[in-house]
Amino acid sequence: MPVEDGVEQERPVLVLDFGGQYAHLITRRVRELRVLSELVAHDVTVDELRARNPRGLILSGGPASVHEAGAPALDPALLSLGIPVLGICYGMQAMALALGGDVGRTGAAEFGKAPLTVEPGALLFRDLPADQTCWMSHNDSVTRVPEGLGETGRSGSGAIAAMESVERGLYAVQFHPEVVHTPHGQDVLRNFLLHGCGADGTWTPAHVVAEQVRRIREQVGAERVICGLSGGVDSAVAAMLVHRAVGDQLTCIFVDHGLLREGEAEQVVELFGSHFAVPLVHVQAQERFIALLAGVTEPEQKRKIIGETFIRVFEEESRKLDGARFLVQGTLYSDVIESGSRTAAKIKSHHNVGGLPEDMELELCEPLRLLFKDEVRRVGEELGMPERMVWRQPFPGPGLAIRIIGDVTHERLSILRHADAVLQDEIRKAGWYNRVWQSFAVLPCVKSVGVMGDARTYAYPIVIRAVTSDDAMTADWARLPHDLLASISTRIINEVPGVNRVALDISSKPPGTIEWE
Ligand code: XMP
Repeated sequence: MPVEDGVEQERPVLVLDFGGQYAHLITRRVRELRVLSELVAHDVTVDELRARNPRGLILSGGPASVHEAGAPALDPALLSLGIPVLGICYGMQAMALALGGDVGRTGAAEFGKAPLTVEPGALLFRDLPADQTCWMSHNDSVTRVPEGLGETGRSGSGAIAAMESVERGLYAVQFHPEVVHTPHGQDVLRNFLLHGCGADGTWTPAHVVAEQVRRIREQVGAERVICGLSGGVDSAVAAMLVHRAVGDQLTCIFVDHGLLREGEAEQVVELFGSHFAVPLVHVQAQERFIALLAGVTEPEQKRKIIGETFIRVFEEESRKLDGARFLVQGTLYSDVIESGSRTAAKIKSHHNVGGLPEDMELELCEPLRLLFKDEVRRVGEELGMPERMVWRQPFPGPGLAIRIIGDVTHERLSILRHADAVLQDEIRKAGWYNRVWQSFAVLPCVKSVGVMGDARTYAYPIVIRAVTSDDAMTADWARLPHDLLASISTRIINEVPGVNRVALDISSKPPGTIEWE
């Protein structure tokens, strides 16, 4: 096992969230520059901040006016800790007020693209052109720069657009450097991080692996750990990280519910059991699931049966591995942000996994808690996991059962699995696999008449569903080329017995959803 001890803990740049719609985006942009960044509440205390030992602070934008009653205030003490600070939009105004400057409703509200003239000698604008465009979204403006800071930019409407004091480590911009509509925005952030904070972009996937390995060892010690594998990328990467850290103290449990895509179960077993030699319990529960699903057509009922049975099987298997104290979960940073800050590390596992025995107290080990999905994928690559697994499209927990629109049978599973494999093959060959969010086959359980080799057929249709999306909350149907659709259709009808028609789903979300059930 490689020795990764002695890795320095990464010092983050903390983004104080004043409620702006771009606050998360700031952390993403900073991370793209290979500096760890995390979101914290705007009213974080000085002691809490000091404990995190941040490299720098960024004050986010926010919807309020600094003059409104109850507007989130900035503790002036945060500006004199010797930690470099960048204020953005509301953050700039809050900084100006806290330091004795003025903020007024000037009538020069700006929304959208705006011209910007900057002082090229300023640290934030080093090596950048004096005349730029930027993205503005504000009513109020700083009307007097606080003493000790210099004005370093004006917008087209004449509003003060930037100010700084290198000596005091204080910087601010009225515009939004984090949005793509500010062409030099990322350069401004880079200047702040590199020249303002001395951050040199060391937060690489290799660093993340080394640091997490150190943390996992610290947390787990010599105890035993279990991890449920789903076939998806998050649980797989989490398991690999834990295995890298504590080796055979980890046992993975893979519950095969028989609702996976072609070759999926084999890939998990090959990768974990053979290639990485991780202790793996492969539970063959296919028949149990199919028996319980027999005759069930109602989507929610299907989901409930699958979810509950999954937990029951996991429970039974983990009971056999007595002595485990930790449960690995692939919780992501987006989950952490969405559920607010959660400090309690020790929880009853059934809160998270749903249905584990009341008296079973497992501590959680969540090595991906700081990472967004694309960062998890890069960590997976760093760990030597194959591209095919790491860059796999999302797949729902209830699997193919919710893509068979009707009751689930062996025959229908086999048809859908086969059609889906053909579709994926064509999509990959045409270079579309990574251009869409998801692409898959759906089997509606109706039959239609066709003709094949001069004979009548009466068989199922397959529906092609391919969508583009950023986050699965909304989606559009992918405009796949007609030639590609033609080859998918021809191959499915020719190669998959029991199918005589192929249709294309051209619904967006909303009003449709990505899955059919
Ligand atoms: P919908 O169909 O709601 O799906 O538009 C949004 C995204 O979530 C995936 N999905 C699931 N993922 N368990 C999961 O892990 C589930 O039960 C589940 N249902 C839907 C879906 O594939 C899409 O990416």
